Amino acid sequence: MNAFTLKNGELYAESVALSDIAARFGTPCYVYSRAALEAALDEYHQELAGTDALVCFAIKSNSNLGVLNVFARKGAGFDIVSGGELKRALAAGGDPKKVVFSGIGKSVEEMEYALNVGILCFNVESAPELDRLNEVAGRLGKKAPISFRVNPNVDPKTHPYISTGLKKNKFGVAYEDALALYQRAASLPNLEITGIDCHIGSQLLDPSPVAEALDKILILVDQLAASGIHLHHIDLGGGLGIRYKDEEAPTAKAYLQPLLAKLKGRGLKIILEPGRRMVGNAGALLTRIEYLKPGEVKNFAIIDAAMNDLARPALYDAWHDIVAVKPRDVAPQTWQIVGPICESGDFLGHDRELALEPGDLLAVLSAGAYGMTMSSNYNTRPRVAEVMVDGDQAYLIRRRETVEELYALESLMP
Ligand code: LLP
Repeated sequence: MNAFTLKNGELYAESVALSDIAARFGTPCYVYSRAALEAALDEYHQELAGTDALVCFAIKSNSNLGVLNVFARKGAGFDIVSGGELKRALAAGGDPKKVVFSGIGKSVEEMEYALNVGILCFNVESAPELDRLNEVAGRLGKKAPISFRVNPNVDPKTHPYISTGLKKNKFGVAYEDALALYQRAASLPNLEITGIDCHIGSQLLDPSPVAEALDKILILVDQLAASGIHLHHIDLGGGLGIRYKDEEAPTAKAYLQPLLAKLKGRGLKIILEPGRRMVGNAGALLTRIEYLKPGEVKNFAIIDAAMNDLARPALYDAWHDIVAVKPRDVAPQTWQIVGPICESGDFLGHDRELALEPGDLLAVLSAGAYGMTMSSNYNTRPRVAEVMVDGDQAYLIRRRETVEELYALESLMP
């Protein structure tokens, strides 16, 4: 569904005008649509109906408790990559029995915490991690449920920074080593082998590499069974892409059906770890134009949001649509949409055709995923507020930080 629509010449989130949100909560702020979050999860759940499946929302894409709570209430699990994300999942009402723990650098403390709350599975990414987990579980008198994140060496055909399933990437265990590692895991007393996992990359627009990865993983599943190791689940990670500009993002059906067909009759529970697809287009960054600075070579629209609020354009040269909240019916000009930060890389959009006046509100779209979670306090800029729209209501789900909070942990020299 489209979370942000024009009504009476003005942009709305569901039934709330973005101009009202700006007046009430100030700018910049992130705005999310509850209905769009739920629709994204429903799209997965519909395709998975009748199969033993669990959707574990990847918290790294958006970790706001209000957002997580919307998903938890609809039965989602969570994919975490730190003890901090586990704490958030639980604080948001998440069920620890529906949590999978990914990541290549799990600390002893994180393992203890996850074992004590009783998560569903540790996605183990190396031999030394396996040994550490066995040791920690033994000390706590527990058995750690594990799967290996296997690197299928498949090219996901996405941005190199977010492709993770190639041999040269730091993630997972090598496909060729997996069998021996599972046998080793089976010989360790404090581990319980439950599944197998892979995640090949993010913003995937072509579903075929995941199907290719699944074929390779299933060969391994059969080899494991032949050696007496029987798995309960298969975790195919996240990665399904969204439309940012003019991409054709596959439907959940087009993405999931080939995978479900391959898994049919195998008796394996299927776990998925989508992040971006659940939140990306359900969120926008609402910002106001501070100044217009037309120039001989370029025209700059200086807004109150910056690269510290939404890093994706500066970091990946990512495109986000930028639209006027109240579009003006006059000839557009070409603008560089830039923030106040002292770096030339501080832009949210280049060469945008817009009719602008100082004080106008703009919405940076598709900002619900990897927006707030990747924000920083660079230039001592307080992190922005987050607002959840639900029908005709808007709720503050994170208040704006104050400057005093930013240096509250610091001290003067003695
Ligand atoms: N599972 C694992 C093990 C992951 O590493 C990731 C993302 C996901 C699930 C969720 O992937 P998604 O469904 O969101 O594609 N900051 C980058 C994206 C980094 C993705 C990292 N891993 C961006 O803004 O594009």
